[in-house]
Amino acid sequence: MHEVQYTGSKKRQHGREAAIIPRKSKPTLFALLVNGAARSVRVEPDTPLLYVLRNDLELNGAKFGCGQAQCGACSVLVDGIERRSCVYPIRAAVKGRITTIEGLGSTQRPNALQRAFILEQACQCGYCSNGMIIAAQALLLRNPTPSAPEVKAALEGHLCRCGAHNRIVRAVLRASREAQP
Ligand code: FES
Ligand code: FES
Repeated sequence: MHEVQYTGSKKRQHGREAAIIPRKSKPTLFALLVNGAARSVRVEPDTPLLYVLRNDLELNGAKFGCGQAQCGACSVLVDGIERRSCVYPIRAAVKGRITTIEGLGSTQRPNALQRAFILEQACQCGYCSNGMIIAAQALLLRNPTPSAPEVKAALEGHLCRCGAHNRIVRAVLRASREAQP
């Protein structure tokens, strides 16, 4: 059986529709700025940023959830804006400063949001925590003193199956409060 290359429409093959298989593009060298450090990877241009972070750069904070920009588990910041890295191609990421949750703080030195999530016990299984914290960081960058409804609106597109929502909102409000002079 021979491979069918993508042509923009389905081809007929032996009297029936053949599946469309996207034409593979060549691996290309990309220079990235991740958490303030210059990194480079050689991948196909359409490779999702999430795959590069987890498979090539060993940054596993961003999680694979739905793979369709629906859950938020994979979120990262690109120039301070939240992006769903499961659908964000590496060719788009080269133009911006990428910040993952590892770039916000560490276990030894958590940033205000990470500390507040710990203090408010805002994680249950923790699978959504990356996306929640990244979305909250993006919110606090554009609005350092959000109200509870504004926090809820900012986190709306993030799914938490454990029901930690109220504690997550409390944690974001706490981080905001504690960052005030
Ligand atoms: S894994 Fe990216 S939004 Fe769900
Ligand atoms: S804490 Fe488990 S999915 Fe949110």
